[in-house]
Amino acid sequence: SMPAVLEDLGERPLVIAHRGGKGLWPENTLFAFERATALGVDMLEMDLHLSQDAKLVVIHDETLERTTNGQGPVAHFSLAELQALDAGYKWTADGGQSYPYRGQGTRIAALEEVFEHFPLIPKALEIKVPDVGMEAVLCEMLAAYDQLDRVIVGSFHERSLKRFRELCPEVATSAGPVSVRLLLALNWLGLSDLLSPSYPVLQIPPQHSGLTLATPRLIRNAQTRGLHVQLWTINEQPEMRRLLEMGANGLITDYPDRALQLLGRS
Ligand code: G3P
Ligand code: CA
Repeated sequence: SMPAVLEDLGERPLVIAHRGGKGLWPENTLFAFERATALGVDMLEMDLHLSQDAKLVVIHDETLERTTNGQGPVAHFSLAELQALDAGYKWTADGGQSYPYRGQGTRIAALEEVFEHFPLIPKALEIKVPDVGMEAVLCEMLAAYDQLDRVIVGSFHERSLKRFRELCPEVATSAGPVSVRLLLALNWLGLSDLLSPSYPVLQIPPQHSGLTLATPRLIRNAQTRGLHVQLWTINEQPEMRRLLEMGANGLITDYPDRALQLLGRS
């Protein structure tokens, strides 16, 4: 059945800001989440790593170089050290001709800050690193910040998801990679009705390794199994339109403004 995190959102297709809308402003920052929320997105997607002092931090890469003025692995720095960096340093919309967010005070966010500033909006949280204890820290924090029914937790690491579900069974999760492959195989064989998913959300790319994953049949079969189908990362309006016509329940996009406009919500 529909998890509480999705219940309030109704039946309309969801616009989900990928990393807070990384095409529009510096990814995974409080600034991005603020702006995306103001646009009217339904959900914020973000990525989690663990700092050296075991705090959950919102950043996509394992290392600092691509998005900040820092260097080296996120896990080698304390939260305080990470928050001294400029998280807007590398953002550019014109291929590096200009960097409008440099020196504007955009910091790496701690997950706690996200919960403090945005308690109500649904969030899709991605555990990026398995085997470092993120699952337990996350589960405790979700309870402490009253977020158990405000989030969907996902990971590309099956054992991380398994661990998280053991610790936090009341929280909605998205299908892990093994479950996704199983669903695709069963769908391909015409046997998707054999699937009885224990997770409520399916987040997949429309294509993967040259294969089309998002077909009308896959979406229909997944929905028949009770799954909410969210597709990533959909940035162009023609593809957004195509997937919505196919019945997608949500679009995870770097450009939530485009999706909202297409849906007549801006
Ligand atoms: O929600 C899935 C999507 O966020 C995965 O891609 O690399 O942007 O985390 P990535
Ligand atoms: Ca992600």
